[in-house]
Amino acid sequence: MSPKARRETLAASHDPPGSPSPSAGGSERIIATALADPVEEVEEAGLRPRTLAEFVGQAQLVEHLGIVIQAARQRQQPVDHILFAGPPGLGKTSLAGIVATEMGAGLRITSGPVLTRAGDLAALLTDLQDGDVLFIDEIHRLHRSVEEMLYSAMEDAKLDILIGKGPTARSIRLDLPTFTLVGATTRTGLVSGPLRDRFGFVGRLDLYAPADLRAIVERSARILHVDVDDDGATRISERSRGTPRVANRLLRRVRDFAEVRGDGTIDGATAREGLDLFGVDELGLDKVDRAILETLCGRFGGQPVGLTTLAQCVGEEPDTIEDAYEPYLLQCGLLQRTARGRVPTARAWAHVGQTPPSAQGPAPLF
Ligand SMILES: Nc1ncnc2c1ncn2[C@@H]1O[C@H](COP(=O)(O)OP(=O)(O)O)[C@@H](O)[C@H]1O
Ligand SMILES: [Mg+2]
Repeated sequence: MSPKARRETLAASHDPPGSPSPSAGGSERIIATALADPVEEVEEAGLRPRTLAEFVGQAQLVEHLGIVIQAARQRQQPVDHILFAGPPGLGKTSLAGIVATEMGAGLRITSGPVLTRAGDLAALLTDLQDGDVLFIDEIHRLHRSVEEMLYSAMEDAKLDILIGKGPTARSIRLDLPTFTLVGATTRTGLVSGPLRDRFGFVGRLDLYAPADLRAIVERSARILHVDVDDDGATRISERSRGTPRVANRLLRRVRDFAEVRGDGTIDGATAREGLDLFGVDELGLDKVDRAILETLCGRFGGQPVGLTTLAQCVGEEPDTIEDAYEPYLLQCGLLQRTARGRVPTARAWAHVGQTPPSAQGPAPLF
């Protein structure tokens, strides 16, 4: 393997250093801790789908992307710039790697918060080869000046550089190689209009259906040589909160449990016991999810709660609550967003085992 190819393989299998940053993507942070073990980190990299055919689920997105890629290949042009949006752990980084692989192109990975100065981006862009894919994770967190430099790079493959200061300052234009920018964001709403408009294709990733998650658990089990039966895979996928990264993590924890307390094979009962032991309940809620429901039901008694207050009560960043926790709680019908704040649903009251105040008579003011 040539040094360049090796560099790209390495880059493709790891998230960039310094990313994710502490204030974004709390679930990414959980994963980072879970991956403190270097062996697990290598395993996780091995689980990443490398081609569109290996990518499970998101059928419509995969179909659209397949057409966009094939058309670009037939015209022997780089693919149009692509933006992937969706909660953490759904496959945005994997898809960026897939675009590069399917195009037979090189992949460069960076992330919004890492590019602090326009010069950082200029250095990256001028170092690209024709056709390369540049992946910018957390693109909504790009610094203003960096983002502005990206506009002409995306539109005309030109780089405007300002030399000098004050009245003698002048701008020069550099030609860039044609490249494909792949951006990832946890929410499209956070990407500025001018930047969003420069992407030719926006792919939105939704939480995965149970059958797809089961297929992901089975695929990962095959790669990791873990013996899981149908029932075991179903139990794990049911508690994976619609998220492949969580599915892979739960599979590894249940594998630990099965190896220590059993003979290493995972059936339905082993999966259930292991997941109960690690505090993942039958809806897949973890400690933070439960803290959110308990804050809404217990502490605030069902009154609407603002995002910042809620985040402070459970000790997380508001962004993390909104990007990583709420989508699943909303999908499960446990939480509702109203104009006045977040409120628990009847299902949430049932889940925490309490009675809503309306069932007990009028709610006290305080
Ligand atoms: N569609 C999929 N099929 C199989 N595995 C997936 C899929 N999407 C994600 N994964 C797994 O989940 C992990 C996290 O995906 P990643 O692309 O890093 O998510 P994101 O960048 O959106 O946070 C990957 O390492 C991969 O193993
Ligand atoms: Mg990612």
